[in-house]
Amino acid sequence: MCGIIGYIGKQPAGPILMSGLRRLEYRGYDSSGIALVSKGGLKVHKAQGKLAQLEKLLPKRLAGTLGIGHTRWATHGEPSDANAHPHCDETGRIAVIHNGIIENAPQLRARLESDGHTFLSETDTEVLAHLIAASGEEALEQRVREALLAVQGTYGIAVVDRDQPDRLVVARNGSPVILGIGEREMFVASDVSALVRHTRQVVHLDDREIAVLEMGGFRTLTLDDQPTDKQPLTISAGQEQYEKDGFDHYLLKEIHAQPEACERTLRGRIDRQFNTAHLGGLDLPPRELLDIRRIKILGCGSAYYAGMVGANMIETLTRVPCDAEPAAEFRYRNPVIEKDVLYMAVSQSGETFDTLAAAQEVQRKGGRVLGVVNAVGSTIARQCDGGIYVHAGPEVSVASTKTFTCSLLAFALFGLHLGRIRDVSPGEGRRLCDALLALPEQIRQVLDQSDAIQQIAVEHLAHNHSAFYIGRAGCYPIALEGAQKMKEISYVHAEAYPASELKHGPLALVSPETPTVALIPHDDLLEKSLSSVEEIRARRGPVIAVTHAGDTRITERADAVIEVPKTESVLDPVLLSIPLQLLAYHAAVALGRDVDQPRNLAKSVTVE
Ligand code: F6R
Repeated sequence: MCGIIGYIGKQPAGPILMSGLRRLEYRGYDSSGIALVSKGGLKVHKAQGKLAQLEKLLPKRLAGTLGIGHTRWATHGEPSDANAHPHCDETGRIAVIHNGIIENAPQLRARLESDGHTFLSETDTEVLAHLIAASGEEALEQRVREALLAVQGTYGIAVVDRDQPDRLVVARNGSPVILGIGEREMFVASDVSALVRHTRQVVHLDDREIAVLEMGGFRTLTLDDQPTDKQPLTISAGQEQYEKDGFDHYLLKEIHAQPEACERTLRGRIDRQFNTAHLGGLDLPPRELLDIRRIKILGCGSAYYAGMVGANMIETLTRVPCDAEPAAEFRYRNPVIEKDVLYMAVSQSGETFDTLAAAQEVQRKGGRVLGVVNAVGSTIARQCDGGIYVHAGPEVSVASTKTFTCSLLAFALFGLHLGRIRDVSPGEGRRLCDALLALPEQIRQVLDQSDAIQQIAVEHLAHNHSAFYIGRAGCYPIALEGAQKMKEISYVHAEAYPASELKHGPLALVSPETPTVALIPHDDLLEKSLSSVEEIRARRGPVIAVTHAGDTRITERADAVIEVPKTESVLDPVLLSIPLQLLAYHAAVALGRDVDQPRNLAKSVTVE
């Protein structure tokens, strides 16, 4: 959410900032802008809309080897040229880019206005530029520090000063800021994706930390002016992981990358000797695991739905009560934290504000939180008391796909690990290990049906105003996730219900124009799911069944059928979720949607 990039070194900064913004555009695409410092002073270029709008108005030659760039997801103030970042003070000396929300901006702005300051935008960020310019301090880092002491809220900021062209100052509180270390050059970004083409050596800033970047290196200090010592981390993701690799969209690439991504999630984690899972990062010895009486999973959006599936898997395998809750709701209801409850925070980006805040709330009250996180070294991963890296690889498309699937596998591994300490027998453990290892190949088999699924999407879903998704038990969250994918990338309205709930209300809306995607695994609830299909058919509602092969009652009743391979029942949701991604993707393409950057959304929601 909002992309930040900055550079100081020997090279022209303009092209580096623009290529960084291209990488970061998925974090926000309401407007973009850059500020460059050169002998000619401080120059700002910005434009409403996607990055292409900014590219159009940039001069051919961009002077300056120091600069900052921003791509915006609007919070304060509508998308417009004036509200685009960078923001400057009145004299045009200071330029600031910002990700986050300054909560006391209205009060600060009123105070500055009464001191004679004039504002050009509606943003909270402009207040920062004025505060920094108005500081009585000399060095830019001290000006920034003084300004930030007056601020309440969250920020990842980068600041340049026309009169101090030897430095770039950045700071963080609640929004990610990552330094990239080069050869006599330094970079900063809100996301490693913008750094990998320049360097593998990175440093994650912590909250209330400021960094001063100079050509020869960096130093860090706290808001209380204490120096800090930061150790660089080497990142493994290469630039190639951020390319489309011949696919039309990142989303399609990421859907098709799932077999390999799942292999990575499983790699080195299946212990064949004891038919269990080996999870090195848990940092929880079996004796402590035995003390766990309940598990609560916290996440947002698709990560929350993954948590719901995970809760079902873990409870089924371990008989330890487990549920999932949206992180923001949990946090604000003053939750009771108990010693024998284990909390798990699930997040692709590892930067989602609400998930991070929920984890911090648990820890503040003495609870233990394990992370199920994709982005290595991210804030949530560092905040948690241990965890499982999902290893899905970088996810660029705004809608989550491969991380969703890999998170399910991470939960299954955890369920297996805990289950084998408790009730799961060696034989059951062996079956689960076999089933987990077979999943990547089974996902390939589902992906091979992409053309047939495309036809179903176009024929039955893309041109309707609304669709229902139904499932039961572990498949209900898969229905929720399928409906979410359909809504967010195709803008076709989709609602998910537990199949059993249809007759309690939603059935009133079923008609020949309202198709239902029904998840019907061959499990204990098969007969019940078939009854739901009958209820829909009786109202002449079209049914798209996502199911297993071999039951003619389904093929006879459904208008379209997608079959996935059978696995252990507890893992069925993994395979049943893949066709739903493809249905949403193909519907979105048929409708000409911006699949990778759907309207109003951005990846990594780092604001509340
Ligand atoms: C939907 C989607 C979002 C994210 C949610 C949490 O496709 O991607 O709902 O799942 O914003 O993000 P992370 O997983 O980064 O915490």
